[in-house]
Amino acid sequence: MEVRLLRHRDYSSVREIYKAVSNEYLRYQRKRSGKVYDPVRPDLNTSQLDFYVATHCSFAAIENEKLRGVLLAQPLRWFSDWDKVLWLEYIAVHAAHRRRGIGLALISAAKDFARKHRIKGLFTTLNIDNEESKSLLLKAEFDVKDSRIASYSPESLPRASPLASVY
Ligand SMILES: CC(C)(COP(=O)(O)OP(=O)(O)OC[C@H]1O[C@@H](n2cnc3c(N)ncnc32)[C@H](O)[C@@H]1OP(=O)(O)O)[C@@H](O)C(=O)NCCC(=O)NCCS
Repeated sequence: MEVRLLRHRDYSSVREIYKAVSNEYLRYQRKRSGKVYDPVRPDLNTSQLDFYVATHCSFAAIENEKLRGVLLAQPLRWFSDWDKVLWLEYIAVHAAHRRRGIGLALISAAKDFARKHRIKGLFTTLNIDNEESKSLLLKAEFDVKDSRIASYSPESLPRASPLASVY
């Protein structure tokens, strides 16, 4: 398995994973409460995907020439080196290929990027009900607080102070 930067040619596979994961989430909500309480966006459009390709810090996990997982990320506040942070927006792995280390490998690629660019912290929001994403972030050594923000500071750089929590 190879983790590399996201490319234009990945779009249809990214959309496939996004759609499958969205449907999974809708099914989960219906099963849990009999209704959809947190609607999902129907699709990722081309300009959104163009944006993530242009950030040069969004990654694709490829195996046998097929996209198995994706991590969409963007750097924030690059006008000041001191405040550089990497915001992880979305991570998803094809359902048939989970629990094989692909999620962790994608996060490792983001951490390597952060170290290389002296980024102080990685941040992400999480749905605290989403056990798999919480466990993944804990395994990836993120600081997961009882809120909806998780953060990670590469070694050798000062620990990131939390941004505002979103409830
Ligand atoms: C969350 C997700 C990306 C994890 O991807 P993955 O490739 O299966 O993760 P990994 O194989 O790298 O798992 C690493 C660790 O995360 C934790 N983990 C992952 N999935 C888990 C699950 N279903 N239950 C409990 N722990 C889990 C475990 O600690 C695991 O280590 P282990 O397998 O040695 O026990 C994947 O489940 C997914 O795509 N889910 C749907 C989308 C989603 O919820 N995204 C996150 C919010 S945007």
